[in-house]
Amino acid sequence: MKCLIATLLLLGPLAASASETVWLDTLDLAHIRQGYGTPQIDRSIRETPLSIGGVRFRRGVGTHAKSTLWLDLAGGAKRFEAMVGLDDAANGPGSIEFKVLGDGRSLFHSGVMRPGNAPKHVDVSLAGIKTLLLEVTDAGDGIGYDHADWAQARFIVNGRSPRTIDAPGEERVILTPKPRPAPRLNGPTIYGCRPGHPFIYRIPAQGQRPMVFSADGLPDGLSLDSASGIITGNAPPRGKYRVTLHAANQFGQSSRLFRIVSSDTLALTPPMGWNHWYAFYDRVTDEIVRQAADVMVSSGMADVGYQYVNIDDCWMNSPHNSDPLRVGPLRDANGTLIPNHYFPDMKALTDYIHAKGLKAGIYISPGPLTCGGFAGSFGHEAHDARTFADWGFDFLKYDWCSYGRIADGQDPAPPNYPTWGKGPPTLAGYMYPYQLMGNLLKEQDRDIVFNLCQYGMGNVWEWGAKVGGNCWRTAGDLGFELNRFFEVALKNAEHRAWSRPGGWNDPDYLQIGWIGGGHAGGAKPCPLEPTEQYAYMSLWALMAAPLVYSGDMSKLDDFTLNILCNPEVIDVDQDALGQSAAVARLNDSTFLMVKDLEDGSKAVGLFNQGEFAARVTVPWSVIGVSGKQEVRDLWREKDLGFFEGAFTAEVPRRGVVLARMTPRP
Ligand code: GAL
Repeated sequence: MKCLIATLLLLGPLAASASETVWLDTLDLAHIRQGYGTPQIDRSIRETPLSIGGVRFRRGVGTHAKSTLWLDLAGGAKRFEAMVGLDDAANGPGSIEFKVLGDGRSLFHSGVMRPGNAPKHVDVSLAGIKTLLLEVTDAGDGIGYDHADWAQARFIVNGRSPRTIDAPGEERVILTPKPRPAPRLNGPTIYGCRPGHPFIYRIPAQGQRPMVFSADGLPDGLSLDSASGIITGNAPPRGKYRVTLHAANQFGQSSRLFRIVSSDTLALTPPMGWNHWYAFYDRVTDEIVRQAADVMVSSGMADVGYQYVNIDDCWMNSPHNSDPLRVGPLRDANGTLIPNHYFPDMKALTDYIHAKGLKAGIYISPGPLTCGGFAGSFGHEAHDARTFADWGFDFLKYDWCSYGRIADGQDPAPPNYPTWGKGPPTLAGYMYPYQLMGNLLKEQDRDIVFNLCQYGMGNVWEWGAKVGGNCWRTAGDLGFELNRFFEVALKNAEHRAWSRPGGWNDPDYLQIGWIGGGHAGGAKPCPLEPTEQYAYMSLWALMAAPLVYSGDMSKLDDFTLNILCNPEVIDVDQDALGQSAAVARLNDSTFLMVKDLEDGSKAVGLFNQGEFAARVTVPWSVIGVSGKQEVRDLWREKDLGFFEGAFTAEVPRRGVVLARMTPRP
């Protein structure tokens, strides 16, 4: 008893400053950003007990590369301890690295850890550190099977407890100068159309209106409205027409090359426009689509080249839907699709869009039903192709969806239809529905750009153009795990050899501004940091990806418009050579993307996937140039000077510097 009292007496005065243990798994883990799934408490990402190299742990946090967790140490945390490694349940060839960084300085680096490796012990002092980052990288080889455990992870705290936070906030800095009042002509310098078909093109031009447009060399059959800058008429006979566009206002004038190529190939540069999906889902209406067309013009998006206003899924009737106004007969007595209550008159809608010089897009599935459960084209392909042309559409997205059940033999096919047998689809099975619709679209008396959406199955990039496709998604939906955008882009870039004028790899939409919210509504601001948004747009431009904005057009703000509308960045995407950039990896977190441009210059993206700003060097040997290069910062629209041998820039965390390099004697 005496002894206990003595001990209590001894501990008494110390208790106020005694250290306590704060377990990582008790903190708010909503701030973790990770490449797959959601953070798990006391279990692995597979929801199994934490286990590394055969050693079980009772508590900790299971996550998945690439993962970051930022903490404000609030002055109280003295040490951080953990056992880290790849979880035994991953059951595949993962490889990861654990890093602990204090105020940007490395405190612990595990080196590459693989399945079965014994757990590594982290024990670092946090003295004097304000902000801590717990990071798991994919060790540079993609995130497959990268199940990461921070086991027994705990802080020894004396005073205030650490707090998880979002990545240190960045300001939404607008890098691109505002358009000047003098005219500046933008948009592609080459444009494909099919002989004799209706032609509609709104000349993209920034600068103060009114403006007077004119053109030299416009082929017969086309006329230009000098006030609106809209070219209409019928596409000229087969051939190449070299047109020069002009725009003038009281502040000056601008001219730009515009080659019209009348042949079989559309989309000689990647399509640019808007699609309703990631902001409106199954709530889309005629009104929303008209508003998108209005804003495309009023916001200035059309002045830099955005032109397609595209409806995605859910415009038709469905056999079952929570909204009774989207339920009804799928087709009329003639077999023509019946749009649902929210689309009273498709022809009137496309007329409205065309009157602005813009183009209209529509969506359907080759299967019996779309992904959202609405009417599909299966068995009605020819009729639907004609209907879309009659309604005045200029773009069709054809989304695999329920066709899977036909292709793998689960659902019967009608007579005269090839049967594929039971089992996973063959290459012929993947290609058939797209070839069918591709041929039908070519028979219409309209130019209809054909957008394949089947998530990359059967290596669609290898045959997409053969079946008449003008662009094809190379993977599943980018969805809301938007922080995967770097990985999605790098995967898409692997197929660069197949991307060319008339046929483009499509890594999915531009989701910035106000997006998401699911079927119930309630779009939210894009969760990506400002620097990430610059990187996202730069990646898409360098890869010559379709630039399709999929956010709420009524909520566009200046920052979002600055990301979407820099004309020099768009020129990189729309370059007539149509090359998709090559990737040169520099280290774990930095890489270059290099794209040859038609005028002999190169667009070079200096990317930093890391969590801290980094100096990135572009050696001439890596990008295949020599001598003197003039370097221009495209986002800032600013010449940086002449460089020899290499160019180095400070690249923000998870960001980009996008440069154009022009050889100079
Ligand atoms: C998905 C497609 C999305 C969207 C959605 C509509 O399959 O990839 O882009 O179109 O269907 O239900």
